[in-house]
Amino acid sequence: MPATSRCRICDGTVHEFFDFGRQPLSDAFVDPAAPGEEFFFRLATGICETCSMVQLMAEVPRDRMFHEDYPYLSSGSTFMREHFGKLAERFRTTELTGEDPFVVELGCNDGVMLKALADAGIRHLGVEPSGGVAKLAAAKGINVRNAFFEEATAEEIAAGEGKADVIYAANTLCHIPYMASILRGVTTLLAPDGVFVFEDPYFADIVERTSFDQIYDEHFFFFTVRSVRAMAEHHGLELVDAERLPVHGGEVRYTLALPGARTPTPAVARLRDEEEARKLADFETLRRFGDRVRQNCDDLVGLLEKLRDEGKRVVGYGATAKSATVLNHCGIGPDLLAFVSDTSPTKQGRLTPGSHIPVRPPAEFADPYPDYALLLAWNHAEEIMAKEQQFRDAGGKWIHYVPEVRVA
Ligand code: SAM
Ligand code: TMP
Ligand code: ZN
Repeated sequence: MPATSRCRICDGTVHEFFDFGRQPLSDAFVDPAAPGEEFFFRLATGICETCSMVQLMAEVPRDRMFHEDYPYLSSGSTFMREHFGKLAERFRTTELTGEDPFVVELGCNDGVMLKALADAGIRHLGVEPSGGVAKLAAAKGINVRNAFFEEATAEEIAAGEGKADVIYAANTLCHIPYMASILRGVTTLLAPDGVFVFEDPYFADIVERTSFDQIYDEHFFFFTVRSVRAMAEHHGLELVDAERLPVHGGEVRYTLALPGARTPTPAVARLRDEEEARKLADFETLRRFGDRVRQNCDDLVGLLEKLRDEGKRVVGYGATAKSATVLNHCGIGPDLLAFVSDTSPTKQGRLTPGSHIPVRPPAEFADPYPDYALLLAWNHAEEIMAKEQQFRDAGGKWIHYVPEVRVA
């Protein structure tokens, strides 16, 4: 009998469909001078038979993941800076045009989205539990509250600042298992005609592209239009828009409002119908996804072992949180990848969690270029391949593993 757990949205039964085994925390890069003991947990995914929400079978305590040293810096990608800049401008000219508008962002990180709104003089607040990145946002002149957003935080903000016209979260809501508290907080804080907008990896794209490394400790929920609609209804909100986004390997930006406050756009029903046609909530679809994950890992390890045996120099590119899943689940260590190049000063000099591959600054990637680079940051492929043209010119080859393993 496959394992079951209780749904964190509706308390229905969640049926496990894939077990990644023992995994470390994806952002717990190890200091080689003070390695300490790493935390491991069982990473497995299931689907709720009632509301169809895909979720992890076990939860990691939040303070283990989001703390003073949380290393992910949102401003690291030029493409993402532009993405958030455009959204800030859209908010400024649509939702934030009333008298003294107020916007709250959950998980504002280093302030990549709020900066433009702060510069435009718009009343704003970022809620960010990870102290280090919250300080970076504050240093840019952004108002930040160093706390986890939940019902009590929302009540305090509403009491002190009043209701919000926009509540926004990017790559954050899917990180939060305690959704009932979050959505009660949103309902408390949202102005009657306000919107709660969030964008996260789209489960349909994960299945379609076999991008199994989107599954790791911090990504607790994997949203679809169907499951988000059920989640909204369960918590007294309404899904009024859904927009596909070309970032992070495929996301959807969902807009929730108080029931009846906004007219749902046709995109909601259209995407929902597409999901039905693709049988996204069928166990058989999920089982086949699991088969493809196993094949993908076998192919990747086979290729890396062959290259090692041929004496080729192979490194990883981008010490993403995602790469913890592919490196640990497939069993890829320093014998197969000499190091991983990464732009984040917070990760350089450390070892990848669990797999213990050294993380080095990009200068070392070019000194000299390796024969092959495994593109771990595949979600930034366009930006990276453009900026690393010299690697190709020098005869270097990229190894891709999503949607399947190929060398190009
Ligand atoms: N919004 C940024 C982006 O899209 O690049 C940052 C995303 S980062 C992957 C997730 C962020 O959510 C982290 O900075 C983390 O500290 C924050 N976070 C986690 N739990 C939270 C909560 N309950 N309330 C607010 N932020 C939270
Ligand atoms: P993400 O997939 O969570 O956005 O993380 C991307 C990681 O890849 C982050 O650690 C920064 C790193 N990175 C590079 O090393 N070079 C790059 O050009 C880009 C865009 C990201
Ligand atoms: Zn459920």
